Amino acid sequence: MELKHLLRGSTLAIGIMLLVACGSGSEDSNSDDESKPLLSAATLGEQTVLTVPDYLAQEKYARANPKNGNRQAQICKACHSLEEGGPNMIGPALFGFFGRNVGGQSGFNYSPVMRNANFVWTPRALDAWLAQPGHFLPGNRMTFAGVMRQQDRDDLIAYLLETTSPVDTEQD
Ligand code: HEC
Repeated sequence: MELKHLLRGSTLAIGIMLLVACGSGSEDSNSDDESKPLLSAATLGEQTVLTVPDYLAQEKYARANPKNGNRQAQICKACHSLEEGGPNMIGPALFGFFGRNVGGQSGFNYSPVMRNANFVWTPRALDAWLAQPGHFLPGNRMTFAGVMRQQDRDDLIAYLLETTSPVDTEQD
């Protein structure tokens, strides 16, 4: 089963890995987070779940660059649909995933580690997942190296908060 996923995704994945490899060359000048141990699904602990407008009001997301967020998201779109009613592809459909439990997209065949994990998708969890998917949830099937730069992740997360969330979140 895993093989089939890989084969279907391999052309895309190779293109993406090249992209990612190119982007990671200038990493050394960007070491402000180096001292903190990277979060993982196992060390997330209690999370505060806010509404999407409240997340977007947080400083790092409020001053994010939507153009760069959109550019970063093109990589995700190789494997994920983002729009409402979008299909599962190589990866699960992502519309409405903020605030949802991991592995919660119906009809998608998750890996056992993702199916058995238990946490809510917050921007904090997503940031750690995208920084290093293999460290965050070892054994997962997302063949993706990660988004190296913190600023790129902030821009991308702000963009995803805007585009993958139902609009009527203000109620109540
Ligand atoms: C090469 C294909 C591929 C790329 C590129 C990719 N993903 Fe994934 N993604 C997957 C697969 C496959 C899974 C399911 C993994 C599993 O079951 O272990 C997944 C799972 C996820 C999940 C968990 C969803 C849930 O329902 O719990 C999130 C969130 C996610 N990806 C976000 C992203 C974002 C954001 C990007 C872009 C930066 C991205 N992915 C790029 C293939 C990909």
